[in-house]
Amino acid sequence: MANVVVVGAQWGDEGKGKIVDWLSERADVIARFQGGHNAGHTLVIDGKVYKLHALPSGVVRGGKLSVIGNGVVLDPWHLLNEIATVRAQGVEITPETLIIAENTPLIMPFHGELDRAREEAASKGTKIGTTGRGIGPAYEDKVGRRAIRVADLADAATLEARVDRALQHHDPLRKGLGVEAIDRDALIALLNEVAGEILPFAAPVWKVMNEKRKAGKRILFEGAQGALLDIDFGTYPYVTSSNVIAGQAATGVGIGPNSIDYVLGIVKAYTTRVGEGPFPTELEDEDGNRLGTRGHEFGTTTGRKRRCGWFDACLVRQTCATSGINGISLTKLDVLDGFKTLKICTGYELDGERMDYLPTAADQQARCRPIYEEMEGWSESTEGARSWADLPANAIKYVRRVEELIDCPVALLSTSPEREDTILVTDPFAD
Ligand code: GDP
Ligand code: IMO
Ligand code: MG
Repeated sequence: MANVVVVGAQWGDEGKGKIVDWLSERADVIARFQGGHNAGHTLVIDGKVYKLHALPSGVVRGGKLSVIGNGVVLDPWHLLNEIATVRAQGVEITPETLIIAENTPLIMPFHGELDRAREEAASKGTKIGTTGRGIGPAYEDKVGRRAIRVADLADAATLEARVDRALQHHDPLRKGLGVEAIDRDALIALLNEVAGEILPFAAPVWKVMNEKRKAGKRILFEGAQGALLDIDFGTYPYVTSSNVIAGQAATGVGIGPNSIDYVLGIVKAYTTRVGEGPFPTELEDEDGNRLGTRGHEFGTTTGRKRRCGWFDACLVRQTCATSGINGISLTKLDVLDGFKTLKICTGYELDGERMDYLPTAADQQARCRPIYEEMEGWSESTEGARSWADLPANAIKYVRRVEELIDCPVALLSTSPEREDTILVTDPFAD
């Protein structure tokens, strides 16, 4: 009865949604523990596509408990729309199948407005390239002790006091950015309206999670973003505003770290990034275009073109360490089909010195030049492969080399967007 944490080990979009959906067959509870609807997780089941942003990927399977933990920032209006969208696709969502932590901070409309106004006002070099969904400002309010949380929706007087506290902070900020003041009464009316629809899902998640754990239920923690977007260990300031690494799974739902038995890192067989920031192995040539086209590398949330590059083993070795990754799921191997030669970054050259990790200082990160080793590609198709025996010898060599360089074994391999096109090497849930 192991509990498994799934985290992205690069800059997001590694295929977490597909793998969480696949693994959820083995789980009883699927919990999101950080991030918000900046996430975009795509599931493909028998050709049917589901795009999830705030909902845990376990909702699609049915018969499981999905949890939105306190580590998440939640836009209640977005959530209701997303629930309506997936319900229209035949997914059942009720307070029996979905619970939301009462201490989850809410994303307000003014958070999105502030996020977008800041990005518009930013000059080149200070723009982050956020999803514009208010994630940063909502987390700022959480740590600034002025967030409006799910539980506050239950009491009109508390809600008004919380709104007033938030306005005291936000109106002067908006003025400085040339944005009109918040309409207090309209906001309170909106919140009172949404309260009735959100509160039925509210629950003391920490308590439910601990009861499930004691009852021997299997918990699958679903991370959003990727370790290189982590607020502490990512390519700061070009990061998201939450802790993304596996340690967050515990604080993000209110369970002890000793309840985590296995950390599965999701790793794309090459590298992508959306938004601004350093990217040592980025390709701005034909190979990069080919990765983007074959991999359909467009953001699920914003539709932006993802930047593409070679696999960076140096970075993944680092994220395996910061998240304590036990095994990885290597995804999108099929996208590499047909490349004559493949390159893997093994370290960097910085001012004439060899580095075996990405330094912290932004100026040094920008000056890191990748050191590559080359491998022979394969001409055969790996798309849809469901066993090792279906893989060409050079593809196996590539996977083995990745394992060696990142010092972590492959537990799962993914060879197409479809749920079942997945090769199991080691079951993360096995005791
Ligand atoms: P997430 O944010 O980590 O859940 O990843 P996204 O869903 O944003 O992006 C991954 C994309 O790759 C989605 O469109 C998936 O359907 C797709 N995908 C996942 N695994 C594979 C794979 O093994 N091969 C291919 N070709 N596509 C995959
Ligand atoms: P999933 O869960 C890829 C990036 C944004 C931007 C930075 C900050 O689908 O892997 P934010 O809106 O969070 O303040 O933006 O983080 N970003 C993601 N990139 N996948 C994601 O989620 C992302 N969520 C945020 O592009 O660079
Ligand atoms: Mg995504």
